[in-house]
Amino acid sequence: MNIRKVVIPVAGWGTRSLPASKNIPKEMLPIYNKPVIQYVVEEAMVSGIQDVIFVTNRDKSVIEDHFDYNLQLEGVLERAGKKALLEKVRFVAEMVNIMAVRQKKQLGLGHAVLCAEHLVAGEPFAIMVGDDLIFGDVPGIRQLMMVAQTENKPVIGVMEVPPDKVSKYGIVAGRERGDGVYEITDMVEKPAVGEAPSNLAIIGRYVLTPDIFDHIRAVPPGHGGEIQLTDAMRSLARERGMLAIRMQGERFDAGDWVDYLIANIHFGLEDDDLQLNLLARLQAELADYA
Ligand code: UTP
Repeated sequence: MNIRKVVIPVAGWGTRSLPASKNIPKEMLPIYNKPVIQYVVEEAMVSGIQDVIFVTNRDKSVIEDHFDYNLQLEGVLERAGKKALLEKVRFVAEMVNIMAVRQKKQLGLGHAVLCAEHLVAGEPFAIMVGDDLIFGDVPGIRQLMMVAQTENKPVIGVMEVPPDKVSKYGIVAGRERGDGVYEITDMVEKPAVGEAPSNLAIIGRYVLTPDIFDHIRAVPPGHGGEIQLTDAMRSLARERGMLAIRMQGERFDAGDWVDYLIANIHFGLEDDDLQLNLLARLQAELADYA
């Protein structure tokens, strides 16, 4: 199974990130010196994916612009001799091919994926949720692509979450094969605490086959009245079998303020120019709360 395309849905309202996301898409909020969405697209690129399909809405065209040339800015940087910055800015425009499709009504993640059907054009494809960040030795989506390739089956990424957090996620039930790979037996979107079949939460990485689109069309609105991708995958898993893998690496949900702030500190500390100063300031801040 060869994966060349990724669908990145970014059409949601981002209510958890308000008021910051009132006029700026939450995917464009910076984590250290890059917008959230750039980390996601970089993960796709280093995993070998060349075609990125954004599912957007009327207020999110700035996301596509970020991955295009800004010739005026490049001219300014060139004339000022700011070569390193110029390279950084050009790099973003040259990372991947960009396509975009509008989700005209926010009817849920499943519906957003369905909007990309004609661009997926009958190929197996990846989905990466535009505000979920995963950093591991093997890039997040690559971990799934490797299993999908050898097993020739759709694969989704899961991580264990504390039992009191299951109602925030799609939850998977499965038989573990012993190597962090599960054969999915069931899945449910945002179950009530105490009713979840496990604590294996679906995080924003998927490799799916194009037959998912028929299942999305067939499922009725689910949790929250939205067309849920989890419901369509449940139906796909019953029909043809699906795998889940326990993903390796550190995950940040950029729509959650604690994760968002920690991710900023994480990347700030990785910058040698900031590290010492940032550490000293953090230690002074922490002392106030000791
Ligand atoms: P979320 O529920 O996490 O995102 O959807 P949201 O709705 O944008 O944010 P909150 O919860 O109100 O803060 C998961 C992903 O699915 C996309 C979102 O953009 C996000 O990347 N999505 C969701 C769509 O593209 N369309 C939808 O109709 C719903």
